[in-house]
Amino acid sequence: MADLTVSLFFTLIVIVICFLFLTKRKRLDGEPPLENGWLPFIGVALQFQRNPLEFLTSRKRRYGDAFTCRIAGKYFTFILDPFSYNAVIRQGKNLNFQKFAIAASLKVFGHADFSDPKYNISYEEIHPIFRQTLQGAALQPLTLSMMKNLQFVMQKSKAYDWTTEGVYSFAFKIMFEAGYLTLFGRNEYLLAEDNAEEAQEAWMTRIMDDFKVLDNAFPHIVAGVPIFLLWKVKAAREDLAGKFLHEYLKKNTNLSELIEKRINIFDRIKNLDEVNKARTHVAMLWASQANTLPATFWSLFYMLRSPEALREARKEVEQLLQDTNQSTETQVCFTKDHLDNMTVLGSIIDEALRLSSASIMIRVANENFILTLDSREEIKIRKGDCIALYPQMIHLDPEIYEDAKEFKYNRFLDENGQRKTCFLKNGRKFKSFLLPFGAGISECPGRFFAVNEIKQFLALILCHYDLELQNMDIPPLDNSRAGFGILQPKYDVQFRYKLKRKNREKL
Ligand code: HEM
Repeated sequence: MADLTVSLFFTLIVIVICFLFLTKRKRLDGEPPLENGWLPFIGVALQFQRNPLEFLTSRKRRYGDAFTCRIAGKYFTFILDPFSYNAVIRQGKNLNFQKFAIAASLKVFGHADFSDPKYNISYEEIHPIFRQTLQGAALQPLTLSMMKNLQFVMQKSKAYDWTTEGVYSFAFKIMFEAGYLTLFGRNEYLLAEDNAEEAQEAWMTRIMDDFKVLDNAFPHIVAGVPIFLLWKVKAAREDLAGKFLHEYLKKNTNLSELIEKRINIFDRIKNLDEVNKARTHVAMLWASQANTLPATFWSLFYMLRSPEALREARKEVEQLLQDTNQSTETQVCFTKDHLDNMTVLGSIIDEALRLSSASIMIRVANENFILTLDSREEIKIRKGDCIALYPQMIHLDPEIYEDAKEFKYNRFLDENGQRKTCFLKNGRKFKSFLLPFGAGISECPGRFFAVNEIKQFLALILCHYDLELQNMDIPPLDNSRAGFGILQPKYDVQFRYKLKRKNREKL
């Protein structure tokens, strides 16, 4: 009996393996070159994941600018020619940008799927809130709130003597808390407790720790590891959601318009329970922080590492202080318009984003259709396949950016000191030269706020701190998050800092 079971088991395995090999896709006429990879189902996922840039560069040499690869059971057609990006981005009718992103979000955050008719609401109703509350006029109050919160957090540290710490850990603590307070407001009821300061500190530390646990697991969950197997991660997510239950969130003071509007719309949805509402706020917390934190690290690190960048950034900040009659003896205030004019800091941030961004833009084909590339070549795309753009290939292209791997603080400044917008490839001007925020309909709605908050952070650091980088080596990028946005450094870099003495107790 046991023998029979064993042989049945092995027969089954052989059948499954044969099935997986035999169902390998064949390239049809008019389709791009196809690489199935050796491993059934997995395809080339492991090679791609190890180093996407290296993988795509080698396949570009082999197949040209458009090719299809099997990755974890799905077929991805990569379009590498930057002049053909528009052809993909403008394909609203045949390509869906939400399918992939929403599936990933559901896996990680476990919130309700609003495409389910039982909620009687669509993403199209929820989505415009981002633009209404994060862009245009709405950016002014957000910027002012972030300005106050950043200085509140900086002053709290009381670091009046030289302190040695990692640049990442320093930037993380300040930006996370200030960004959190700006969107989700202050938890004033903790202030009523006897040990108010410690209670607030413990509250924020817990949120940061939970965020780190969830964020570290993010790539694994998106790759398919079920969250219930990662019980610590699930507990961290639920802990965060517990803090975002509407009954608590509504008591916070200085809630941003974004969160207020999201609370109102979720409260109007019948059948949406309180935990599901709270989990959507966890997703929002992640979107607002996960890329901003490493982007802030790289901007600060490169600014401190380059003597010219530091000198010119200081000059820009000092000039603005002088023009606006402000002193760093007290809290300073830079408005959105002031920040828009800080082009040196803008260029430092753009350059840091260029060097560290590795996001992937994915669209899913709604139908079989023909995509016409810039070269007029037509390629057939099958329904259900994904089209992928990988802007890091542009960001590090030596034909577009001279010495592409080097940080040049003024790379994005023109001869008048304004933002440079003209970049060429093969002598041709093109628009998609820097895409850390994606493009088209799915472009990051928080991009203006993100750049503003990093500018504020850098400007305030220069106003309020003395700083010295202790190690000039550039840490390698941690590729394990490639595809998800800004890459983190593999390890932190030590530096020392202190609040300028004159600011003691006055911020
Ligand atoms: C340096 C910082 C940031 C970077 C590099 C970044 C990058 C991105 C990217 C690449 C996407 C996906 C775009 C696509 O699929 O084509 C995205 C989406 C998104 N980002 Fe950002 N982001 C940053 C900061 C922020 C901030 C501060 C907020 C909000 C306060 C935010 C809110 C969002 C939201 C809500 C989405 C999803 C939009 C949708 O569903 O269409 N991001 N971001």
